Amino acid sequence: MTESNNEKWINKKISRYEMLKLTGIGAAGIAIGASGLGGVIKAMSYNVFEPVADSIIARNKVDFYGKHQSGIVTPVQKNIYFASLNVLVTSKKELQELFKQWTPLVVRLMNGELMVDLTNNIRIPTGDTGEAEGLDGSNLSITIGIGPSLFEKLGIQHLKPNELQDLPHFPKDQLQQELTGGDLCIQACADDPQVAFHAIRNLIRLASGKVEIKWSQAGFNSFPAEEGTPRNLFAFKDGTVNPSITDGKDLNKVVWVDKGWLKGGSYLVARKIQMHLETWDRTSLKDQEATFGRYRDSGAPFGKTKEFDDFDVEAKDSKGDYIMPNTSHVHLARKSGARILRRSYSYVSGVISNTGAHDAGLIFISFQKDPAQFTTVQKSLGRMDKMNEYITHRGSAVFACFPGVQKGSYLGEALFNAL
Ligand code: HEM
Repeated sequence: MTESNNEKWINKKISRYEMLKLTGIGAAGIAIGASGLGGVIKAMSYNVFEPVADSIIARNKVDFYGKHQSGIVTPVQKNIYFASLNVLVTSKKELQELFKQWTPLVVRLMNGELMVDLTNNIRIPTGDTGEAEGLDGSNLSITIGIGPSLFEKLGIQHLKPNELQDLPHFPKDQLQQELTGGDLCIQACADDPQVAFHAIRNLIRLASGKVEIKWSQAGFNSFPAEEGTPRNLFAFKDGTVNPSITDGKDLNKVVWVDKGWLKGGSYLVARKIQMHLETWDRTSLKDQEATFGRYRDSGAPFGKTKEFDDFDVEAKDSKGDYIMPNTSHVHLARKSGARILRRSYSYVSGVISNTGAHDAGLIFISFQKDPAQFTTVQKSLGRMDKMNEYITHRGSAVFACFPGVQKGSYLGEALFNAL
């Protein structure tokens, strides 16, 4: 065992000792009732674990508590597992109970703990599926949001913010019903793919009968050895022009909702965008660069030398041509005038059946204080975007992500208080 692993091990032991001490649960482990998982759920009532999780000394840990949920202005991690869920319960009370139940479990997961310690009871299913045992927090962030359909399901349309509408149909959309919409989303991002998957797997497992997965997508970002912007599967730096996650004033303008029960929350737009790699790979570098209006290697905008150099989309050369082509993705996105916080991940999901083509692309995710910001950019890209030759939008969803949680509170409390 290396020294750092050893330290991790000691930290884990401390946290478990603390947990047993503080919860008064004996060394025999958490009592699991005859109903198996049901008993585990019961043991995880909302107040029991909260102070415990707070006392854990964990590595690579993102804070759960705060004004905003994690996973929005959290530095981008290497992996995502994103799930869109159908909600099966129809009463507000049951949903509220679910969020109360999930809250302390999310705290534990983000602290690098299993939802419940593994026991050696051979007679019942395991309380936590266990594949994250021995792994640390891995900077796990969990972001939970609710979709427009949920309000109808629960009969609380009066609380649906006007901004929360299904996205309009865009000209080049080829959306698949099974990759579209959802009542609730969980975005799990972490520096370890198994930690992200484990979190969602277990949250859903314990809510069995209350929620079910509608669609999900795993994704990744690869960072250069020296800090820098990750490249997408077209080999271009992706994420250069984004609001700074440390500029609170700007984030208030672009990302955070400032009214109603969603104050401090944000709208998440998810688009599953297939990238036709085979077509792209047959394209000359000149055409590839003209697609974005940026140079592949440096990431600099046309006419400039460095990635973060500012540029004027209207600038023209001596012949009167736009320096940044007016069909380029960046030209059109910038010209829309709308700003969004992009937090996307690449995906690779095998092959498209019977075509021999990679099923690969971008799980595009953006946060904004109003989904109309996304719509404005997407409309500007419209039919003009040169990138349309190389991509197809397959999935789409929009969610209102709850404000952050203060100690003693739970996810979505502001919504339930507004009922
Ligand atoms: C597979 C799909 C997509 C790919 C591969 C892609 C790639 C890129 C790249 C390489 C850049 C330039 C570097 C940067 O600033 O990050 C960029 C910029 C941008 N993209 Fe995309 N993008 C995609 C989809 C979208 C969508 C759906 C939207 C929103 C509707 C969008 C909005 C933007 C914005 C706002 C910028 C910054 C423009 C500026 O400089 O002001 N992108 N994208």
